[in-house]
Amino acid sequence: MSTPKPTGESEHQIAPQMAVVARARAPGASDHTGQVEAIRAQDDGLVAGQLGTIYYKPVTVCGIDLKLEPVQPSIGTIVHGIDLAKDLEDPEVVSFLRDLWLERRVIMFRDQGHLTRQEMVNYAQKFGVIGAHHGERDHVPDLPTSVPGFPDMLIIASGEKRAGAASGWHSDATWSTRPPMGSVLMCREAPPVGGDTSFCDAYSMWNGLPEETRAKIEHLKAVHVGSPHHAMDGKRPSAVHPVPRTHPETGRTTLFMPRSFVKQFDEGHGLDDDEAKSLLTELFDQAGQPEYTCRFRWVAGSLAMWDNRAVQHRATADFWPHRRSMERLTILDYEQDRRAPYYRPE
Ligand SMILES: [Fe+2]
Repeated sequence: MSTPKPTGESEHQIAPQMAVVARARAPGASDHTGQVEAIRAQDDGLVAGQLGTIYYKPVTVCGIDLKLEPVQPSIGTIVHGIDLAKDLEDPEVVSFLRDLWLERRVIMFRDQGHLTRQEMVNYAQKFGVIGAHHGERDHVPDLPTSVPGFPDMLIIASGEKRAGAASGWHSDATWSTRPPMGSVLMCREAPPVGGDTSFCDAYSMWNGLPEETRAKIEHLKAVHVGSPHHAMDGKRPSAVHPVPRTHPETGRTTLFMPRSFVKQFDEGHGLDDDEAKSLLTELFDQAGQPEYTCRFRWVAGSLAMWDNRAVQHRATADFWPHRRSMERLTILDYEQDRRAPYYRPE
C-alpha cells in the first residue's frame, strides 16, 4: 500500500510534522481524504470539560478573587477569575500581573474570548508599547500581514489546506535588533485536541549548562537570521546578539540561543567549525528540557502573555486537519535603553 502524503499534494500546504502525526493517527488510510476522515472520526464527540483536580492558590487583589494555577513548578501560571476587558483599571492589578509575569515567565488566562481586538490592544498596552511584528518600527516587512485597523496584529491561522505552526524553539523576532519584550497570544479557534504551545525557561537553560560551557560561551555573540517570510526592506533580516543575555528587569542571566533563528556564532570569534558545531548543538538542546518546560493547551478564548527575554516557545504541529486560529500582538519595553539585548555578568 502506498503511503499517503498530505505534504506535496499541490493544492495543500501541510507542515512535515503534521503529515507525520497524520500517518501515526491514520495508518490504514490510503490517501489524503482517508486521513482526514479517519482523524475527524477519532476526534468527533470531544467536548470541553474538566475532569480531576486542579491545584491553585487563592489570592485577592483589589477585591478580585483570583485562583493561581501553576502549570509547572518553575514556569507558567494560569490566572483564573479575572476579566481582562474590565479588571485592569486599577494599576495595582496591572502591577500584580506584571510581577507574576516576571516571576513565572508566562501567564495564561481562560475565558477571554469576549475581548475585541481593540480590547486586546488595550490590555497589551498596560504592560508596554505595542510593537510591530518584528519589534521596533525600524524596517518595513516585505509581506503585508496586517489586519485592517490593527496593523500590528498578526493572525496565525492553520487548517486542512494550509497547515503549519511555529514548531521550532524560538523567541519572537530575535532577528531584529530590538526584538519584542513580550507577546500576547489569543486563541480564537482551537482544535479539539493538539496544537499546544510549550514554553521553556531561559534562566534554567543558562543555569543548566556545565560551568565550563558557560565560561567558554560567556563572551560570545551569535547571528540570528529571519526566515524568508520575515524579509524586510527586500532582504532577510539579521541581528547579532550576546549568547548569554541579561534580563533587564530581573538582572539575571538567560541563554539567548533560539534554534529556529541562530545560524552561527559571530565570525569575529574565530571558532573552528567542529567546536562551533558542537557548542551550537549543546546550546540548542537546552530548549525543551522537561524540568524547565511547561505546555499549555488552548481552548477558544484562552490568552497567554510571555516574556520573550525569559522564555523560548514553540507550537506543536500535530492537529491537522483541524483549524487553529490565533491573534498575536507584541509588546516593547517602555524603557528604550532596555530594548536591545545585552549582557552584564551578575
Ligand atoms: Fe512565536
